[in-house]
Amino acid sequence: MQDERAIPILVAVLEDGDQETIVRHEAGEALGAIGSQTVLPVLETYLKSEIPEISETCQLAIERIKWLNSAEYESGPMSDNPFSSVDPAPPSSHESIAEAEQKLLDENVSLFERYRAMFALRNVNTDSSALALTKGLSCSSALFRHEIAYVLGQMQNRVTVPALIKQLANKDEEGMVRHECAEALGSIAEKNCLEALKDFLRDSERVVRESCEVALDMFEYENSSEFQYADGLNKVTDTI
Ligand SMILES: [Fe+2]
Ligand SMILES: [Fe+2]
Repeated sequence: MQDERAIPILVAVLEDGDQETIVRHEAGEALGAIGSQTVLPVLETYLKSEIPEISETCQLAIERIKWLNSAEYESGPMSDNPFSSVDPAPPSSHESIAEAEQKLLDENVSLFERYRAMFALRNVNTDSSALALTKGLSCSSALFRHEIAYVLGQMQNRVTVPALIKQLANKDEEGMVRHECAEALGSIAEKNCLEALKDFLRDSERVVRESCEVALDMFEYENSSEFQYADGLNKVTDTI
């Protein structure tokens, strides 16, 4: 929504050490999306958080706010985002799929630049760009892996299903990554996706159980007469 009136509560959530990391992350990301320079000091503070997902979120939000005030942003419209989401980084431009993939997977490149390559690959939206993105599910940053899974959900390309199921099934993976894999499988909604989601309805991690429950309910809703009626107003899978 990018409404500046939300800034105080979002700052309070980001600062609240009793909150789940995934919630604090979304609050930090929302501050980056709103894009006000007034939050730079608080973002700088949590850039030093010992929780990598919080620190990395603040790093990205700071970079996004700086980018909003850069010559590149001023110099005109970026390439179109066919998904009309407010992204934590703009897509990179003038890159082949192979170049973007190389940057995506390069652990020595800054996270912001790797996010830019990720959104460029998403916007290309072909089987090969989707498969290039699935390779990012093995990168070292959990935050990065969760965002990869999120964009795969936006793309809804069935070629990514095996990689998403594998990551959802990996009990050593972080809950926030498995959560995004479950949601992505729910948006793709092929038969094998639904079977995988059912397998994790009783997962020991709450965020995983709840994601599978929501994803399966969403599938049912999309195939119900209620959705046929609502179709055209809003595409339901875009709302989570
Ligand atoms: Fe997120
Ligand atoms: Fe999410």
